[in-house]
Amino acid sequence: MDITPEIKDRLEKLNEKYALLGQDLLSYLDGLLYADTVKYWDYIEVDTLLSLQKPKTNFPDEVIFIMYHQITELYFKLALCEFEQLGARESLDAAFFTERVSRINRYFEALIKSFEIMINGMEREQFMKFRMSLLPASGFQSAQYRFIEIFSTDFVNLVHKDIRNQFTVDSPITEMYEHIYWKEGATELETGKKTLTLVQFEEKYQHQFIALGERCRSLNLWQVYQRLNDTDRANDTVKNVLRQNDINVNINWPLAHYKSAVRYLHKDATDVAATGGTNWQKYLPPRFQKRIFYPALWTNEEKEEWGKAWVEDSLTQR
Ligand code: HEM
Repeated sequence: MDITPEIKDRLEKLNEKYALLGQDLLSYLDGLLYADTVKYWDYIEVDTLLSLQKPKTNFPDEVIFIMYHQITELYFKLALCEFEQLGARESLDAAFFTERVSRINRYFEALIKSFEIMINGMEREQFMKFRMSLLPASGFQSAQYRFIEIFSTDFVNLVHKDIRNQFTVDSPITEMYEHIYWKEGATELETGKKTLTLVQFEEKYQHQFIALGERCRSLNLWQVYQRLNDTDRANDTVKNVLRQNDINVNINWPLAHYKSAVRYLHKDATDVAATGGTNWQKYLPPRFQKRIFYPALWTNEEKEEWGKAWVEDSLTQR
């Protein structure tokens, strides 16, 4: 075999690399010699992945429900990778900011489009039965969904809209957390008590939400945007990518999700009780939640009209 200049160059570079680490190149070359080749199924962990669907009933459509939730959680994880990198970035400019927020937007757009798999992709009769075996679990308990919210905006914007003006960006996270908007979505209609779904969710994750809230005071996406220079902050492409993010996460995804609740849980006279007996009709629509990550980027009129037309459409189309 010829030791070409390219091979010699790589060997020298490898030698330098391992010498710096105080390691012997020859041992590592032996490692290369004995190492097995990489196979797709090992690398992607296909067998493990396909073993993670464990239905509670024999209804065949239950695995669709499980897998679609798993797909969603993976997209959420992809989004969280971007928030981490944006927060950690030292030399931030408009190009990097736009590129990475666009990635998050693409993940949500894929989820919004694919939500049809839930809305129309399961037999209602099967769903109505297998859901009873899953109580009190709910997608409401998706911690990654809450992490994304905390990574997106100042914590004060997650406080319930009716009392938000009693707090400022600098209020203690623990106090704001007590009034985070989603607690309303898990309160029993009849008694006003926290649902079991919420109690269990908080038992497991509350300390993580508060710790992340503290961490994100300075590195949530809105704060990352503030780090851009004046020109970049005023750049329309930059502002639009954030606006699109607000629309995707706070209008279009919630609407696609809401349509599935309408499809499966709506009956003519009375609605089917949601997990833990909450009023999902009043809680889920973005128009009522008015969750807005970047309020400074919207006009008062846009904020007033938040999610309205969409809610009406989803109700008339059902
Ligand atoms: C047939 C499909 C679905 C139906 C009927 C449905 C129904 C509901 C209902 C009624 C709620 C209100 C809380 C409760 O009572 O449980 C809820 C909340 C929630 N669900 Fe789903 N869901 C579906 C699919 C999904 C999927 C695939 C995900 C993805 C992870 C998901 C994530 C969530 C989240 C994050 C919340 C909390 C929303 C918020 O606080 O604004 N759901 N869902």
